[in-house]
Amino acid sequence: MPAIGLGTFGSDRVDADEIAEAVRGAAEVGYRHFDCASVYRNEDRVGCALGDVMRDGVQRKDLWIVSKVWNDAHGRVIESCRQSLADLKLDYLDMYLVHWPFPNFHPPGCDVSSRSPESRPYVHEEFMKTWRQMEQLVDMGLVRHIGTSNMTIPKLKLVLRDARIKPAVNEMELHPHFQQPELFDFVRAAGIEPVGYSPIGSPARPERDRTPDDTVDIQDPVIVAIARRMDVHPAVVCVKWSAQRGATPLPFSTRRENYVANLEAVASPPLTEEDMRAIAGIDRNCRLIKGQVFLWKPDQSWEELWDMDGVIRR
Ligand SMILES: NC(=O)c1ccc[n+]([C@@H]2O[C@H](COP(=O)([O-])OP(=O)(O)OC[C@H]3O[C@@H](n4cnc5c(N)ncnc54)[C@H](OP(=O)(O)O)[C@@H]3O)[C@@H](O)[C@H]2O)c1
Repeated sequence: MPAIGLGTFGSDRVDADEIAEAVRGAAEVGYRHFDCASVYRNEDRVGCALGDVMRDGVQRKDLWIVSKVWNDAHGRVIESCRQSLADLKLDYLDMYLVHWPFPNFHPPGCDVSSRSPESRPYVHEEFMKTWRQMEQLVDMGLVRHIGTSNMTIPKLKLVLRDARIKPAVNEMELHPHFQQPELFDFVRAAGIEPVGYSPIGSPARPERDRTPDDTVDIQDPVIVAIARRMDVHPAVVCVKWSAQRGATPLPFSTRRENYVANLEAVASPPLTEEDMRAIAGIDRNCRLIKGQVFLWKPDQSWEELWDMDGVIRR
């Protein structure tokens, strides 16, 4: 798996054509890893860009293409994967993930307070039915590897106990103000690669996904001081730290100078041990992607999605 991937989630801010153009440009400057998902609603355009990239001489075997099954398709994983393959115009994926461990969904762009009446908690037996279909995709040769996303230690322990094919990666929110040290150490000890989403702290996420307590990684004095010394944007320090710590960061950008800088971040000389120690010290346990819309009871708070006391909530 290439050490950095380009995020392709434009939220409601960046349209599919702009993202497809970024995929073409990023491949031109050396990116080979692209983090896609059916719910990003741009796989068709990204697929056209990947076609151009391969026509320009990049071989399929050198690309690392990820997609994810959305929460509304946990019962029809194979069909959903075939649709992503058709949209991306590929005959296999390098990695396919279960995007969230809940089969709960909502209209795109809805307010964080909206709740679906069909929403359910994590039910391990149901998740394993989804996972069996993921395993089948590997047997069918449609995907090379399978993984999880937005998981917790208690849920992963159950999956590791019952899976025939263990998750190869866990995609999780990781940035200097949200380092998730226990989960990070747990997945590495289990032989699962941590893939870090929102590595810069998602500074352009929609207003509806912000809460007053959220902190801003790229304004942290430690990050800013290192960035000044290195003469780079603070975002680059976040990406560099993530990769050097042992995660695979997935920064999103459609600006050439920014995605080039992020790629250079993982290829240039490392941060000093002192920098790494200083950044380890600024964790604020500040989760930005809280997942409120996936809650299954009206009076719950988002913390209940994340098994914070080690217990899976029902
Ligand atoms: N599995 C999941 O549930 C999940 C959830 C969330 C995200 N993700 C994945 O993670 C990817 C990234 O997450 P994200 O978009 O939330 O946040 P992010 O990568 O932390 O932040 C992206 C923002 O940072 C800016 N930026 C990027 N590089 C920069 C640089 N070198 N200098 C200055 N600014 C820079 C971008 O602006 P410009 O475009 O202007 O450069 C963009 O606004 C997504 O696209 C998606 O693929 C997965």
